[in-house]
Amino acid sequence: MIDDLWYKNAIVYCVSVGTYMDSNGDGIGDFEGLTRRLDYLHGLGVTTIWLMPFQPSPRRDNGYDIADYYGVDPRYGTLGDFVEFAHGCKQRGIRVIMDLVANHTSDQHPWFQQARSDPKSPYRDWYVWADKKPADADKGVVFPGVQDSTWTRDKQAKAYYFHRFYEFQPDLNTANPHVQAEILKIMGFWLQLGVCGFRMDAVPFVIAEKGANIREPAANYDMLRTFREFLQWRQGDAIILAEANIPPELSMEYFGADGDRLHMIFNFAVNQALFHALATADTSLLAEALEQTRQHPATGQWGQFLRNHDELDLGRLKPEQRQAVFAAFGPEKSMQLYDRGIRRRLAPMLQGDRRRLELATSLMLTLPGTPVFRYGDEIGMGDDLSLPERECARTTMQWSDEPMGGFTRSTEPKRPVIAEGPFGFAHVNVAQQRRDPQSLLNWTERMIRMRKEVPEIGWGEFSVLDTDVPGVLAIRYDWRNNSVLMLHNLRAEACEVRLDPEVSGSHDGLLINLLSEEHSRPEEQRRHRILLEPYGYRWFRIGGLDYLLRRDEI
Ligand code: GLC
Ligand code: CA
Repeated sequence: MIDDLWYKNAIVYCVSVGTYMDSNGDGIGDFEGLTRRLDYLHGLGVTTIWLMPFQPSPRRDNGYDIADYYGVDPRYGTLGDFVEFAHGCKQRGIRVIMDLVANHTSDQHPWFQQARSDPKSPYRDWYVWADKKPADADKGVVFPGVQDSTWTRDKQAKAYYFHRFYEFQPDLNTANPHVQAEILKIMGFWLQLGVCGFRMDAVPFVIAEKGANIREPAANYDMLRTFREFLQWRQGDAIILAEANIPPELSMEYFGADGDRLHMIFNFAVNQALFHALATADTSLLAEALEQTRQHPATGQWGQFLRNHDELDLGRLKPEQRQAVFAAFGPEKSMQLYDRGIRRRLAPMLQGDRRRLELATSLMLTLPGTPVFRYGDEIGMGDDLSLPERECARTTMQWSDEPMGGFTRSTEPKRPVIAEGPFGFAHVNVAQQRRDPQSLLNWTERMIRMRKEVPEIGWGEFSVLDTDVPGVLAIRYDWRNNSVLMLHNLRAEACEVRLDPEVSGSHDGLLINLLSEEHSRPEEQRRHRILLEPYGYRWFRIGGLDYLLRRDEI
């Protein structure tokens, strides 16, 4: 199989068209607006845009309820506008991946309409039916508190249909070969229009056996190989980035032992442990999660993220660990969701504390894998807890302090804008941060630039070093005789980290600070004593002069 491993060191940025930039003043973001902002994204250093669902949809689940896989929601523009956008990305060397929602459709999709209205329709078997309500219909709901069943009766069909998510999202019968063929066709269509891969939604559910009274659904991993083969036969550098919140021990099933299944998987285990570490300054769980997810095939890669468009899912933590994260970042009931997570954005969770925002972002950039940013986090955007469920963290991008944050000329934006409080657009916006060299935006840009100069993170082997200092995570990467060392102090107190001579290995002992002039020179026997301020972090290249000389030779 031909692989181009560009994704191993990509900088991914997730954007939803409807909330990014409105070009025509109707109050809804669109492709033309997003295309105008490509220079902003290019300047930030983004190499890959992940587009959230933008196809025609009733949008009852942020577009994850698709009514036509082969089009663009007219509110966002036309297929023509999509192609202009794809071209604009190509010109700037930016790749595009898009959401592929293959587990379910909208109940408004013509396939479902035909399936429900005619038992003889060829589409009937594209969905999952039962004559009687299965006894376990209240089990396995994804949105507890909002959804109470996974089976709903359809009057027209005179039968129950299965829906893992909301009742307006009937599950596709993904075991049906026609459905599988259609999924490939959808991928082929968008590849042809310029995307370079897919963020595949809800993968464990896509491949799960579906039907009434299935107690322990078997996973059809082979389906993943079919998807990958198709992709790569069509376009060698196309990838699948999987949304799969799976136990670490299953990850090799998803990657495929021979690297013949998924290219990338979001690292949910590390994500939860990371927030536990940020909340408690205890790094042991994080170190453990890193160890548990160490294994991946040479062509596989983890996606590392802080927040996404969903709740921060803490479902894999033990109850007391989860409580610790709740206490720190989402103490009020209104901040929590689905009995398992926190629905806030990153900046308000960290109380807008610049030191902690830098620490968290620096961690994301230096954990083993490829970083995935959520739009707006580069300027520290907030949330609006008065909005229902996950909508609170899906407000419009804040471009300036003009009315509606510069998102739209309309006085009646159809998407929520944050106008009030410390995170309102008057205080948090791109225009202002652009002018300030010390702003979070410019800091993020500098960090992204440096991350690109440290490909060891994407390619190398990592080791978590024992520093004996509580609250400090020290990770070393080695790749092709190059080594880097990343230190993060998760505590609110300063500390001194002593590094053993082995850290500097065979090199002359100098640790080159990649973010400032403050290099670390070893004391006797190559021992380092590094002072980390509260929430401080350091990116070092090990070997200093050695390394610089080698670089010059190249
Ligand atoms: C994924 C999406 C989420 C959506 C769900 C159903 O989990 O991230 O936003 O609600 O799938 O499509
Ligand atoms: Ca518009």
